[in-house]
Amino acid sequence: MENKPTLTTSGGAPIADNQNSETAGPRGPLLMQDYQLIEKLAHQNRERIAERAVHAKGWGAFGTFTVTHDISRFTRAKIFSEVGKQTEMLARFSTVAGERGAADAERDVRGFALKFYTEEGNWDLVGNNTPVFFVRDPYKFPDFIHTQKRHPKTNLRSPTAMWDFWSLSPESLHQVTILMSDRGLPTDVRHMNGYGSHTYSFINHDNERFWVKFHFKTLQGHRHWTNSEAEDVVGKTRESTQEDLFSSIETGNYPKWRVCVQVMPEEEADKTPYNPFDLTKVWPQGDHPLIEVGMMELNRNPQNYFAEIEQAAFSPSNKVPGIGFSPDKMLQARIFSYADAHRHRLGTHYESLPVNTPKCPVHHYHKDGQMNFACHNANADAYYEPNSFGGPVERPEFKEPPLKISGDADRYDHREGNDDYSQPRALFNLFNDDQKNRLFSNIADAMQGVPDFIVERQLGHFEKVHPDYAEGVKKALASKSTQS
Ligand code: HEM
Repeated sequence: MENKPTLTTSGGAPIADNQNSETAGPRGPLLMQDYQLIEKLAHQNRERIAERAVHAKGWGAFGTFTVTHDISRFTRAKIFSEVGKQTEMLARFSTVAGERGAADAERDVRGFALKFYTEEGNWDLVGNNTPVFFVRDPYKFPDFIHTQKRHPKTNLRSPTAMWDFWSLSPESLHQVTILMSDRGLPTDVRHMNGYGSHTYSFINHDNERFWVKFHFKTLQGHRHWTNSEAEDVVGKTRESTQEDLFSSIETGNYPKWRVCVQVMPEEEADKTPYNPFDLTKVWPQGDHPLIEVGMMELNRNPQNYFAEIEQAAFSPSNKVPGIGFSPDKMLQARIFSYADAHRHRLGTHYESLPVNTPKCPVHHYHKDGQMNFACHNANADAYYEPNSFGGPVERPEFKEPPLKISGDADRYDHREGNDDYSQPRALFNLFNDDQKNRLFSNIADAMQGVPDFIVERQLGHFEKVHPDYAEGVKKALASKSTQS
């Protein structure tokens, strides 16, 4: 007998013939009792699950996080407990707008989702390759995403919808400027930074809270494509990022990121001239310098892409002792939204899937439901809480210090008194002439077909950032219209 495993049904019974279906006579018809054929066809019909509503196209790999500098004065999170400590992790990168089959080399924000399998539970940092975002109130997130997806009638992406929304939402200017700059079209995910983007909490052993932002600095350097280079790439391959990440890891060329934090003492949040919990703003590094923490390396490709990447479920609600939330409204909404999405997309007990299972003991009282294949209550009598049969109990030592909040409940105008122009201006001023010219040209490309009144409204915002910004875009628009 050959040294190969025996093919079986999913019930484990050996299969004698995997080439010929069971028929009445050599010419057919089929027999209803050919359950092997039926099983095969039924499985094929169920091979697709709902794709992610956003960030559907993605690329992932496993790796390690190594602590290089001690930050235990800020956080008691075990992942940072000592220099040299290593923690297994998973990364999934993505584009936001395209569907699962979208081409990789598209101008779009890249998702930068990380899952750290710590000894006190999974810590997920679900960030982007940009430190800010398009909106600051989660109420506007579904509207924003609708402008990025297909128009209901044409079934095409709509530049008109995008610029209409952006021009009516000046808080988007900072992120739009990044998206239209070189950083908006990285050649692949190895050559870009990652950011936790939101402000989170660090909580130390003395139960003191600090505000923190996470940065992942690529050690491969930054690389981008121009729009016309990307057109050539997409003409040759739609999977340029997958090819790059997979082959670099497969050949032992492991990508690395230097992990840093910016830290702000809790009471300082009331003193900054900007709201430090506003996702459309960065914290100036002059005021809050980067503190080096560790190194992230991706060094293992998934064995089964569907099982380990498509079924990976990242959620900002996955936090561990020593790391907490902040009042950022966007973060608060995301704490709800992701676990809800996973229950819908993957099933109630999605955290029992191997890629999502914590690598530490898990004890809870959730019961039954779709996909409940893990037995989390070893003692069958302890299936409710409190109980007298030795079931798992809460541990008050993990209590966080109270999160200070105040104010009357109301729907506050998040645009009132908010400066949406200074930080985009600081960014614009950092660009050299070539970078500015590419920014103008990329915007003009993206505005093709957009009605004049929307273009004019957006130019008004560029003008407020810097007169050169509006002027540059106007000239680029004029030169595109003479070319066409
Ligand atoms: C994916 C909601 C803002 C980064 C998703 C998914 C949902 C969602 C429902 C799909 C999850 C799944 O099916 O697995 C929201 C809401 C937001 C928001 C409601 C604002 C209120 C953001 C922001 C960032 C971000 C600000 C980055 C800073 C990501 C990433 C993914 C994702 C990286 C893909 C995760 C993966 O690789 O599986 N988002 N999102 N999102 N989001 Fe958000």
